[in-house]
Amino acid sequence: MPLFEHAPLKRHPSLQPLSRDHYQGLVQAQHLMKAANGNAQDRRKAVADFLDVWSRLIEPHFDDEEGLLVGLVHDAHRRRLLEGHRRLRELAAEGREHRRQVDPGAAWVRDLGETLNAHIRWEERELFTTLELDPARLGGLLPKATQIEASRRRGRSEPPGSSGGIQPPTAKRDEDTP
Ligand SMILES: [Fe+2]
Ligand SMILES: [Fe+2]
Repeated sequence: MPLFEHAPLKRHPSLQPLSRDHYQGLVQAQHLMKAANGNAQDRRKAVADFLDVWSRLIEPHFDDEEGLLVGLVHDAHRRRLLEGHRRLRELAAEGREHRRQVDPGAAWVRDLGETLNAHIRWEERELFTTLELDPARLGGLLPKATQIEASRRRGRSEPPGSSGGIQPPTAKRDEDTP
């Protein structure tokens, strides 16, 4: 399975900052799942790296999704979004405890990686794809999306072709497609 099936620049401009965050989240999920099968040191390092990205990016990303998207989605999607965030916040809090341990444990690290991976892939495949069925409503989010992008310090682990950032409000979507 490719790391990222939906290139951020193919997304509606209002969703591009969140999709770019997803790429970085998937990188962490892959690290954790791989480290689960490694040794104690691999697992400790993967959890420490995850917690850094959690504070810098994933936690604000969850707050942004809740502020921006919860009012636009139907009940089943809202419940699943919020339940996914609740579970991952709980796991991040457990991770802070595990950080003090010699080995956070293969099963726990695997669960964290798989839970993060599944949450992001569901949002990309289902939640965002459903939101894009109503581009006019998404258009109203663009000023806030622009602020979100400006607030992110994008690191090395960028998806290919994402360096252009989000499009200006006047750009048409189909200009994304080569
Ligand atoms: Fe989310
Ligand atoms: Fe997300």
